[in-house]
Amino acid sequence: MNIAVRYYSRSGHTKAVADAIAKAAGVSAISVDAAGAAISEPADVLFIGGALYAYGLDKHLKAYLKTLKAGDAKKAVIFSTSMISKHSIDLIREGLEAAGIPVEAEYFYAKSKPTAQQLAEAELFAKKFI
Ligand SMILES: Cc1cc2nc3c(=O)[nH]c(=O)nc-3n(C[C@H](O)[C@H](O)[C@H](O)COP(=O)(O)O)c2cc1C
Repeated sequence: MNIAVRYYSRSGHTKAVADAIAKAAGVSAISVDAAGAAISEPADVLFIGGALYAYGLDKHLKAYLKTLKAGDAKKAVIFSTSMISKHSIDLIREGLEAAGIPVEAEYFYAKSKPTAQQLAEAELFAKKFI
């Protein structure tokens, strides 16, 4: 099974969740602005996460979502760490759906900085889809 984990994180909260998910999947989490972020091999599952900044997604994640296309992943699973609103999840879902990538209804959410317990939960969450 080919698993991809992509995220954008300004202060590390979403990166911590991405790393927990990647650990469960046995892969590396890649920031969307890093070399190697492009999907080179179609993924069975693409885990993709970000947070909300002034009620919008960071421009790096927005731009990355626009590069995705239907064949890049059979399914996407969203995670987020916004502080108050879960609107980030809606925005990421919209981007994925615009690309033609089916999105799992279930998502992983931690309120801002994830606790050690939430990171353990993120690993368990990821394993459901692997
Ligand atoms: C400049 C800025 C704007 C933010 N705006 C929002 C917001 O509109 N709604 C919200 O729920 N959280 C907001 N947050 C909180 C972040 O989404 C939250 O801390 C998140 O965990 C940051 O993730 P990161 O460490 O991966 O960048 C904001 C944070 C910053 C720094």
